[in-house]
Amino acid sequence: MKSPKHAPMNQFPVIEDCLQVGSRAITDIAMEAGGAPFYVYDRQLMTKRMAEMRSSLPNGLIIKYAIKANPMPAVVQHMSTLVDGLDVASAGELRVALDSGFDPINISFAGPGKMDWELKQAIAAGATLNLESENEMERAALIGDQLGVQPHVAVRVNPEFELKSSGVKMGGGPKAFGVDSERVPAMLQRLGELNLDFRGFHIYCGSQNLSEESIIDAQNKTIDLGYRLAEHAPQPITTFNIGGGFGIPLFPGENRLELEPIAENLEIRMRETADRLPTAKIAIELGRYLVGEAGLYVCEVVDRKISRGEVFIITNGGLHQHLAASGNFGQVLRKNFPVVVANRVVGQEREVANVVGPLCTPLDILAAQMELTAAHPGDLIAVYQSGAYGYSTSPIAFLGHPPPAQILV
Ligand SMILES: Cc1ncc(COP(=O)(O)O)c(C=O)c1O
Repeated sequence: MKSPKHAPMNQFPVIEDCLQVGSRAITDIAMEAGGAPFYVYDRQLMTKRMAEMRSSLPNGLIIKYAIKANPMPAVVQHMSTLVDGLDVASAGELRVALDSGFDPINISFAGPGKMDWELKQAIAAGATLNLESENEMERAALIGDQLGVQPHVAVRVNPEFELKSSGVKMGGGPKAFGVDSERVPAMLQRLGELNLDFRGFHIYCGSQNLSEESIIDAQNKTIDLGYRLAEHAPQPITTFNIGGGFGIPLFPGENRLELEPIAENLEIRMRETADRLPTAKIAIELGRYLVGEAGLYVCEVVDRKISRGEVFIITNGGLHQHLAASGNFGQVLRKNFPVVVANRVVGQEREVANVVGPLCTPLDILAAQMELTAAHPGDLIAVYQSGAYGYSTSPIAFLGHPPPAQILV
């Protein structure tokens, strides 16, 4: 049996065997960055992805960018020109979102442990809070009274179902996220007694899903749940955030999601929702799907050695700067991200090699036993699918190496 391959990575052109980002050779970008390691993100690819979504998905669907995927201010600024809403998970992210000039009411703040000072900032700014507990609802109302501002709120619901075959699950069963759906009617009754502007529901089940069938199944169940809960709402709902979860191919054997079947189903369900909940706008909330494929992580080869028959390409980047590619961010069995030698993509000579970082831990791996151009000191190694959950989820301070640059071209 043939071993599975990575999905083709053709978002960045190759000219004279050198990877190009934003019409520039990666070697030129490396010079501009002051050398590797660095992250580079391509704004044109983000624009293209959003254009594809707008043309495939139904008109009127609200598309929100969850900035946790890539909170670099320049990226958020660019995304803010393309999407209908921003989702933030902390007061720090809220600041970045507000600085983009986005209308605060279309900035939603989710997260199970919002602190009072964060709630205060969000309420003062006029952002929408996705309430994650009854207690948080009471705190938000109290803070609103203290500030003399009526908070905009939605209720984040923990549904009774899961997003099947999802890389990361945030709904179904006992969860720290949101309020169990069976408790929501009582919460809504209390909410109606408080000075809160109730806008609707946020039902987010999971992330990194590559099954159209599972996404459609979860969206259908979410919409049905929303109908049931809306009967208990203190006022007609305006926001109905049905989550996201659209994944990108990271590992061998994974394929890109097809938007068409998801779009067809949503079209039908949105027509029905227009009848049943006429004031509600359906929203989806995506991070990695919008920016993940638009970024590369690039590091430089500093040494090469053979150990008992295996080739080791040692680079100046690794786990501390790209935890996910090292396999230490939620992977049970380590698998390789797509990796190439960026300045000699096809190369003259190929070999099977291990690409590792400079840290003194065997966890510091960027590629294990992968077929690559034979790389030597000075060559650049690029890790694809690094536009999301790269820089910001990595232990950058670990072992005291300088942080990588981040460049948006
Ligand atoms: C509430 C919420 N929204 C959006 C996202 C973004 O997920 P993804 O980047 O996989 O689209 C997450 C991921 O953790 C999340 O928890």
